[in-house]
Amino acid sequence: MTISSTTSPLLSKKRRDYTPPSHTIETVDLRFELSPQETKVTAVSTIKRIDTQSSVLFLDGKDLCLQSIKIDDQILTENDDYKMLDNGLELYTSLATFTLTVVNTIKPIENTSLEGLYYSNNAYCSQCEAEGFRKITYFLDRPDVLAIFTVSIVSTAEADTYLLSNGNLITDTGFENGERTCVWEDPFPKPSYLFALVAGHFDKLVDEFTTQSGKKIALELFVDEGRLGQGQHALDSLKKAMSWDEQNYGLEYDLDIYMIVAVDFFNMGAMENKGLNVFNSKFVLADAHTATDEDYFNVEAVIAHEYFHNWTGNRVTCRDWFQLSLKEGLTVFRDQQFSADMYSDLVTRISHVNVMRENQFAEDAGPMSHPIRPDEVVEMSNFYTVTVYNKGAEVIRMLHTLLGKAGFRKGMDEYFARHDGQAVTCDDFVNAMQDANGADLSHFKRWYSQSGTPRVRVEQASTGDSQTTLSFTQINTPTRTQAQKQDLYVPIKLECFDKNGHKVDTRLKNDTLVMNSASTALVLDVPNEQITPSLLQDFSAPVLIEYDYTLSQLLIIIEFAGNDYAKWEASHNAYIMLIKEIYNAANGANNNADMQLRQDIEKLATAIKNLTVAPEVLAQILSVPSAESLYSQIEKVDPIMLYHARHKVVVQLSNTLHHFCIRHYLRLSQNPRPYAYEKQQVNNRSLKNTCLHLLAHSSAETVAPLIALQYKNAHNMSDRLGALKAAQVTQDDTFDSLMIAFEEQFGDDAVVMDKWFAMQAKSSKTDILAHLDLLQAHQQYSIKNPNKVRSLIGSFAFYNTLGFHQIDGSGYKYLTDYLITLDKVNPQIASRLMTPLMQFSRYASTNQVLIKAQLNRLYGVKGLSKDLFEKISKALI
Ligand code: ARG
Ligand code: ZN
Repeated sequence: MTISSTTSPLLSKKRRDYTPPSHTIETVDLRFELSPQETKVTAVSTIKRIDTQSSVLFLDGKDLCLQSIKIDDQILTENDDYKMLDNGLELYTSLATFTLTVVNTIKPIENTSLEGLYYSNNAYCSQCEAEGFRKITYFLDRPDVLAIFTVSIVSTAEADTYLLSNGNLITDTGFENGERTCVWEDPFPKPSYLFALVAGHFDKLVDEFTTQSGKKIALELFVDEGRLGQGQHALDSLKKAMSWDEQNYGLEYDLDIYMIVAVDFFNMGAMENKGLNVFNSKFVLADAHTATDEDYFNVEAVIAHEYFHNWTGNRVTCRDWFQLSLKEGLTVFRDQQFSADMYSDLVTRISHVNVMRENQFAEDAGPMSHPIRPDEVVEMSNFYTVTVYNKGAEVIRMLHTLLGKAGFRKGMDEYFARHDGQAVTCDDFVNAMQDANGADLSHFKRWYSQSGTPRVRVEQASTGDSQTTLSFTQINTPTRTQAQKQDLYVPIKLECFDKNGHKVDTRLKNDTLVMNSASTALVLDVPNEQITPSLLQDFSAPVLIEYDYTLSQLLIIIEFAGNDYAKWEASHNAYIMLIKEIYNAANGANNNADMQLRQDIEKLATAIKNLTVAPEVLAQILSVPSAESLYSQIEKVDPIMLYHARHKVVVQLSNTLHHFCIRHYLRLSQNPRPYAYEKQQVNNRSLKNTCLHLLAHSSAETVAPLIALQYKNAHNMSDRLGALKAAQVTQDDTFDSLMIAFEEQFGDDAVVMDKWFAMQAKSSKTDILAHLDLLQAHQQYSIKNPNKVRSLIGSFAFYNTLGFHQIDGSGYKYLTDYLITLDKVNPQIASRLMTPLMQFSRYASTNQVLIKAQLNRLYGVKGLSKDLFEKISKALI
């Protein structure tokens, strides 16, 4: 394998260059004297030299103002005892053990990057993963240095009712003589990225959990004043996650207290700081009035994710950041298992498969393509990606398939037995799995080092008169950094049906064909023309399958497949086939396309009408795949043409299924019960709102009044938003007036208003750019708040196809202008928002030229962050 360096060697770090730390920090005593303008930080560390040859200790530091530095009792002088560098300081000492005292100041209120310690909404909050601790004090800010932390927080503001950090509260002086000090002690050694500090005024919701061994854990949830009523679902989810992890992995919580704080200003979803999770408030706050069923689902999933990190991440952590998937891929897999158990296997799986097909495949096909364990990194924040997280979870899932449930559990037990309290690598994890099961996973391991999406070409041919051969060939296309690719271990779950829909015996164990090499074949005792394969059931591997289905074959799967996933996948493939046909016809390939479409949709609709499946399954089957998920299947796609082709298919489906949808809709709208987030209600609402959304595409006039009525009568956010989204399809006056009503009702709720901004941003108004300008002036909007930026600018760039891809390039220019401003405020968010531009190579050449012009403009901007610099330089090479 050749790995060529395309970014500046000065800036990038390589996985293969890992060296253990020269020193380690055994304990650290941190003292914070809080002030928004200038907070004083005193760090007293006991340091031990590991490398006996070493006479230099390098400490990371960024945007710090150093006051003094001491080794034992000796004050150090610059240049003699230490030297300041761009990214930290170098200390000269050959002592084997010593106490280091560093005093410095930081400016929380000026910190808009939301990394390190920042002050927003009248509260202090920290975010240290991956490399934010160095913005708090000079330290060995790397995950393989594990220290015991004691933290003193001093506040002179009586309004700061809570002064929180990791672990157990051991001292609280109360407010006396103008100040208050709280001291926290975390008995578990941890890397600096798991440190947290939160201070300010909150409302607190308390609960309790008793572990399986009988230990009582105090649970505390901190939210903005007045929001306690929206916190119970998060706490309930936490308790479910705690007992799930006990039952499924035998893992118990280890401290006496578990705290969660919800804040409005947060770069990501949430953070698993030891004993003190910090959450984006959108993944905590939920009640019937303000949250949809999907929001409830997401809160439960993210709460579980962070909780599960306590073992997969905190107790066993990463040796270096190239190993990020060690904790993230595994923890995502665990939260996916949990969600499937709590709600629905099928719907959970489909939602994760959609993320892979829409986002991860796109990343893997673009300039940022990287293996789940990257080899080279400029800015670590750029690698908190769908590849590391979601593809990482798919790789763990394949291990689970390969070893079976019991074997996987054995491997997990072995992993904790070997590595509890350590900082380890992805190889260590796979080795534990391997040894516990006596398996050979050396070939499997290639998934960790190879980037790109494997394609598996499936051909079907006669073998004699009465047999059929299905041949499977892997195609691993070279990517930017890997010219040579290897074949991978690919498990393909499949079923085959004959022309009467009977299942054909494949003689495969667990219905799974395992590809251990570039190609393999499967011989069936049924003549070729009678075979219909249903391939990659449950998305058994993160690959693209290429098989040329006919519509009749897909209809056979929809009718006869024994599992709902296969039925969904076949309907999904049928939509894709029809959309592609219309798309190609628009290029002049077929004049009869419209008539053909009508006939095909008739057949598909008949098959759907005849199904007897659960409501949530039907809802999924009635959902036409997004245009984005099709980008990986059409070369040099014209996004606007594809948008129209998809729209045409949806409209035709809507007209054909009009009565069917009306019938379901009316049935499901009757006698609503008081809102509860429980399976039956959720499933019924999902089908009801899917029907309404589809109906909104039909030409029938009966639909508009239904939408208005549902909005008016809605007693929960799922129904309200369902109506609003349906109204958006029609883009008539109803939509505008509902949006005004929505704003009047929810104008004060930051989390709810994010939905409103997103709907505005996706509007197909022709003057969308002027509209976006106006919305930025809205009193709820702030460029400093990542949720707002994502809702408005993100929704526009990711989902407003017509607005973003305008043929004069003005959509691309608009995003680029915004990125230039945003990069100065919050580089991490700017970098994420750049994604739609990064994927230019998927588009037709006119679009490509326009996007590249903007990337070049961006490249020329002075003082660009490392985050943007890394991505642009990769895109332009
Ligand atoms: N570890 C967090 C999680 O649970 C994400 C932290 C991301 N931080 C960042 N700077 N990108 O997924
Ligand atoms: Zn995580």
